[in-house]
Amino acid sequence: MTKITAAITAVGAYVPEYKLTNKELETLVDTNDEWITTRTGIKERRILKDDSKGTSYMAIKAAEDILRKRDLDPKEIDMIIVATATPDMSVAATAAFVASEIGAVNAFGYDLAAACSSFLYGMSTAAGYIESGRYKKVLVIGADKMSSIVDYTDRTTCIIFGDGAGAALFEPNEEGLGLQDEYLRSDGVGRNFLRIEAGGSLKPASHETVDNKQHFIKQDGKTVFKYAVSSMADACVNVMERNNLSHEDVDWLVSHQANKRIIDATANRMGLKDKNKILINIEKYGNTTSATIPLVLFDFEKQFKKGDTIVFASFGGGFTWGSIYLKWAYNS
Ligand code: UT7
Repeated sequence: MTKITAAITAVGAYVPEYKLTNKELETLVDTNDEWITTRTGIKERRILKDDSKGTSYMAIKAAEDILRKRDLDPKEIDMIIVATATPDMSVAATAAFVASEIGAVNAFGYDLAAACSSFLYGMSTAAGYIESGRYKKVLVIGADKMSSIVDYTDRTTCIIFGDGAGAALFEPNEEGLGLQDEYLRSDGVGRNFLRIEAGGSLKPASHETVDNKQHFIKQDGKTVFKYAVSSMADACVNVMERNNLSHEDVDWLVSHQANKRIIDATANRMGLKDKNKILINIEKYGNTTSATIPLVLFDFEKQFKKGDTIVFASFGGGFTWGSIYLKWAYNS
């Protein structure tokens, strides 16, 4: 019997129109374009300005982009995973609403929360369902409205994050393409270094927590940076070694976009000498948390050829991190 692998067969995306530039941030906090550019690689990020819209708005648009591109009947979709750190609401699953809105009436869906690694973990989950033979069309959407949890008076975080959504359709493949291997890890040692303190069961929201700005995201940037560099690089090297991949075998590095210096350090450890293989779009969107990886796929899709070897990497709050080795399944 032919082995079934899980391949990405389409990608879609949506980013809001409004561009928050480094120049505009200079008017909000004590920062400057030069600092932001050299320390992070970010030039601008997109912001969903409409207060009446949440993460689902962007997730729906990204999903509809795939339906349009593939001329796909939404009734054929079996399941929808919305990878997000900013669900519309903490209880009603965003994925359920997204499924209804796009007409995926035969699908079930749920949200997957693993901070910046949510999309990578979502890829693994989707692949598991496809490989089992149980489902044929699984949509993984990475979407975050980071502007809803960012304190625009805190220069250590507001310069980093942006809003956006990206999506990938996973389908069975019998040519051996798609997800080949993965190395995923998590470690609660990181829980206090990158977090939103209040609003969860540990510290429910109150007047006091809001006054203390504990509903905003906070991070110990230096510590997160240190862990991110070593963990992401270790994960990629691990996946390469156990699959006998040399730097020449790797066609593309698709990494979470948190800081250009972290991506460069990871590529360096992987021995990637050809800079064109290191895919970067952080300058346009900043760190969109769960959306970074599908936004890279979307922006560079035209460069990918059937059979290309892609190494994915991510690191995020929790801590959560990992690497996935995937063979691209189509020419666009
Ligand atoms: O996606 C989830 C995972 N997250 C990450 O991977 C993020 C990891 N961390 C980072 O990317 C970096 O740590 C940051 C970009 C957040 C910060 O860069 P850094 O090189 O680690 O800077 P730092 O925190 O060590 O700060 C250096 C200096 C400090 O001043 P002093 O103490 O040296 O006088 C900061 O107060 O830069 C100052 N600073 C700023 N200056 C201008 C901090 N933020 C800013 C700012 N503009 N926005």
